[in-house]
Amino acid sequence: MSAVTIEIAASILNADLGALREAVQEAERAGVDRIHLDIMDGHFVPNLTFGLATVEALRGATQLPFDAHLMVERPSLWAARYAEVGCATVAIHVEAPEAHAPTLDAIRRAGAQSGLALDPGTPSVAIEPYASHLDFALVMTVKSGLGGQAYRPEEAARIGAVRSALAGAPVHVDGGIKTSTASDAVRNGGSVLVAGTAIFGSVDRAAAVRALREAAGAGA
Ligand code: DX5
Ligand code: ZN
Repeated sequence: MSAVTIEIAASILNADLGALREAVQEAERAGVDRIHLDIMDGHFVPNLTFGLATVEALRGATQLPFDAHLMVERPSLWAARYAEVGCATVAIHVEAPEAHAPTLDAIRRAGAQSGLALDPGTPSVAIEPYASHLDFALVMTVKSGLGGQAYRPEEAARIGAVRSALAGAPVHVDGGIKTSTASDAVRNGGSVLVAGTAIFGSVDRAAAVRALREAAGAGA
């Protein structure tokens, strides 16, 4: 039985937004596998972060894969462009009021893996109609829009059904991932753990990443 490979993705939302290049390079030095980019438009969520130009500017800061998490009202306008500027994966929210299949296919045509994100309360069945257009899913264990919230285990309980709907495709788990919650996320079937404050809220970032990996391993 091959052990599941667990990856740690650093969300830079809670890093120093005035020094994002340094934050990305700090996360890389700390040993993360991926960089998670929280794109918020101030409409889909009551927060506005950074966009395409910032992601393009950060691309040269590291060779690590970029995961774009689009919390935007009209993902059809943006999603493929994040692939074009070098994101390895692009997740759009299933709750956004658009037809998603064409956008998911456009992400793939632009060379990235396509994903749907599910906010808390959205049942796993919501992604079933899109299964053939999806390479992964992003299960939110906090309400999208802010870092530093508490992990909600009842939302992680959806991961198993999401994985089944996607025939075992990877599930990223996002929100409140800490040493105390990482094993639960993995036990439920998550294989990419997104961590923001657990990393950028720590003085020793490398120790924080090691501790997350160890905690995650306990759930594998
Ligand atoms: C919230 C974002 C998450 C968040 C994670 O809308 O999608 O990626 O930044 O931050 P923590 O790990 O602090 O919950
Ligand atoms: Zn996110």
